[in-house]
Amino acid sequence: MQGYIKYTWFVLIFVFVVILAGGLVRMTQSGMGCPDWPTCFGKWIPPTSADQLPPDFEKYLRQQDIDHTFNVYHTWIEYLNRLAGALLGLFILIHVGYTLKLFWKTNKTVVAWSVGLLLLTGFQGWLGKKVVDHNLAVVKITIHMLVALVIAAIPLIILHIVKPATARVNKVLLWLTNAAILLVIAQIVIGTDVREQIDEISKAYHYEHREAWIAPLNNLFVVHKISAFAVTGLCIYLFFQLLAVPGMAKQAFLLLATLLGAMAMGLIMAYIQMPAFAQPSHLLLSSILIIVLLSIRLHLQPRL
Ligand code: HEM
Repeated sequence: MQGYIKYTWFVLIFVFVVILAGGLVRMTQSGMGCPDWPTCFGKWIPPTSADQLPPDFEKYLRQQDIDHTFNVYHTWIEYLNRLAGALLGLFILIHVGYTLKLFWKTNKTVVAWSVGLLLLTGFQGWLGKKVVDHNLAVVKITIHMLVALVIAAIPLIILHIVKPATARVNKVLLWLTNAAILLVIAQIVIGTDVREQIDEISKAYHYEHREAWIAPLNNLFVVHKISAFAVTGLCIYLFFQLLAVPGMAKQAFLLLATLLGAMAMGLIMAYIQMPAFAQPSHLLLSSILIIVLLSIRLHLQPRL
């Protein structure tokens, strides 16, 4: 069982590796580095120089939103991102096999979650293709983000089923945790809309003049900033409450660290000229924040 628990943790952490890889693709504007899917310039291993391009390469370049020339750096960053996604699929397939072996006879719920994880990851791959087909169309990016978070949540749920840990708390704390989860999900959805606006603005600036990207954002960005302070207030209150609950100190500190990290990266983007590193960091820390909150919620039970 210890091996299964460790492997499930590994899958969970690898989901964040894939989320980070996606953020790095965007930071470097490599999204269209492979204009086709699942192949890249019609090949399984993409070209490393322009002379290796297929004869019909112009057909691919026409689909790109920025380069319109072959850029080996963009192509390989996007390719490694896809490789990470494919590896995640393989690791999840192994997880299903491992789950069937251990739990087929004893716990069908765990089997259902593991199979669900595989199906959802397949759906995410299909959605990834749609995002490429429509040149990173906006609504699909938000769905892609939310599906990624559900994919991260499933290993956590499995871990909780096979190794339940509970901390008894009053109902108010339980509801405040639920409220924090809903608020952070709303914050993430609004954040992806802000990100879509940044995509448009940065494209108009040919991905230069980062200091000018924030000013044209519409009122949703104001909402994003205000609700960030509501999230902060609620999470800091939860932090102090959880410190007093036996066995919850580690998760309380993780909550505080990811919250402050996500906030810091947001503020750096908004007020210190949008440095590139802050974009994937903000995305990664926000994704970990919601998973930490979910983990806390799974641990809490109403006091009898
Ligand atoms: C805990 C609070 C916060 C959460 C959970 C959060 C979450 C998010 C998420 C998920 C995105 C989309 C990222 C992507 O798709 O790459 C985003 C984008 C963004 N957020 Fe936040 N955010 C928070 C606080 C803030 C604050 C305080 C600011 C600034 C004052 C801020 C500024 C931005 C900006 C500028 C973007 C666009 C980033 C980009 O284009 O890469 N955020 N946020």
